[in-house]
Amino acid sequence: MNEPNTIKKGMDVELEIESLAFGGMGVSRINEKVTFVKNAIPGQTVIARITKKRSSYLEARSLEVLNESPHFVPVKCEHFADCGGCTFQNLEYEQQVSAKELQVKDVFRRIGGFKDVNCDSIVKCDEIFHYRNKMEFTFSNQEYVPESEKDREPSNFALGLHAPGRWDKILNINECHIQSIIANEILQTIKALAKGIEPYNIREHRGFLRNVIIRVAANTNEIMVNIVTSRDDPHLLSPISEAIINQFPNITSIVNNITSRKAGVSTGEHQIVLHGNEYIVEKLGDYEFMISADSFFQTNTLQAEKLYNIILEESELTGSEIVYDLFCGTGSISLYLSKHAKMVYGFELVTSAVQDAMQNAIHNKVKNAWFFGGNLENLFRENTEAKELELPDVIVVDPPRAGLHAKTIEDILEKSPKRIVYVSCNPASQARDVALLCNEKYELVKLRPVDMFPHTPHVENVITLIRK
Ligand SMILES: C[S@@+](CC[C@H](N)C(=O)[O-])C[C@H]1O[C@@H](n2cnc3c(N)ncnc32)[C@H](O)[C@@H]1O
Repeated sequence: MNEPNTIKKGMDVELEIESLAFGGMGVSRINEKVTFVKNAIPGQTVIARITKKRSSYLEARSLEVLNESPHFVPVKCEHFADCGGCTFQNLEYEQQVSAKELQVKDVFRRIGGFKDVNCDSIVKCDEIFHYRNKMEFTFSNQEYVPESEKDREPSNFALGLHAPGRWDKILNINECHIQSIIANEILQTIKALAKGIEPYNIREHRGFLRNVIIRVAANTNEIMVNIVTSRDDPHLLSPISEAIINQFPNITSIVNNITSRKAGVSTGEHQIVLHGNEYIVEKLGDYEFMISADSFFQTNTLQAEKLYNIILEESELTGSEIVYDLFCGTGSISLYLSKHAKMVYGFELVTSAVQDAMQNAIHNKVKNAWFFGGNLENLFRENTEAKELELPDVIVVDPPRAGLHAKTIEDILEKSPKRIVYVSCNPASQARDVALLCNEKYELVKLRPVDMFPHTPHVENVITLIRK
């Protein structure tokens, strides 16, 4: 028996993993003290090294599995041990989703302070591999050498993903099982063609090739390749561009985003179209969406249709409502709801996404949707047109992971819609925001979690609030 008082950082201990915590670590206990264990799944007995000791909890990292979990499944991915992306790939899918459902309820209890929450069963994915329609890879002159090959020298050319916790080192990716097969083929082709061209060195801010972002539209099969570089040099890129167009005829857009910014960002200061359009077209339900390189679009297309149907159900539209879609991206939720509402207004920060949203409304012949560009922290305070709009019956919000700014919560309360449908990829910030809204004049009706990203700790959650 390990006594918590005698436990020290660096010690190796034997632990039984009981469950999965929000964020993806296994949960064990040393006597009564909660211990979060990295790289461990429920049902395993592991030898783990203590990495952190705090008054209320411990953290550890699994070093060796003594007894395998009855829910263990063999992993498909050769990069599983090093990548850190699909940390649950070795856990049966049924167990993954039931853990996520429990986590959502738990977060609403702990962070939101909601004692009893009405939560639907989590919506599962039909396709648990090859579901991501967009992946971003990074070029580097500093390869991260996998654990199993640690005696070899790192290569000075890598194209792949950041190693966990490493902003400067890149794990070469040969195949990623959550993106499509064709995206993997394009990635390997680009890697082979780009060898010999100087990758960007993020420490010294030298070099040319920074990122490659591959987007494959699941319902139309159109493909966009976005190559991010540190400067404009068409002579270096045209052989890559010509070769991939010949090999992959579904590539309908190749763009080159150029950025001299020092941080590891993949949005460009300006963009050159090397081939085809500056956008690709994807279909969701009855609607077609033009998506340009910098615009947000749901990364799991098939599951996004299920998510949007839930948003539609929860909005309870009859055709006479005014709907605000806050954080609307390319307007996909707005257009999806438009057929069932009197008017939908979308609000979004990224200018290219607002332009896409406008274009998408025209392209889909939707006349009852309009979009506003600007920062939602100030938009309803500074933009006179937005300030004076007719008040909403329903507000849909789908913010980034950080959740809602206090000013946005104030603005929502002031607009006082009958219903709020809050979509979030981070139930923790969602629970915090929902508690604030419920302290004022709303009541939480229900939670509807959706698994958009199998094998990863991420979970999407839709909640509905009604005005008291
Ligand atoms: C999770 S995405 C939601 C997109 C959209 N609802 C969809 O389903 O495609 C969040 C969006 O919020 C936008 N955004 C982030 N911060 C913002 C802000 N302060 N004001 C307005 N929009 C913002 C992002 O550009 C992004 O498009």
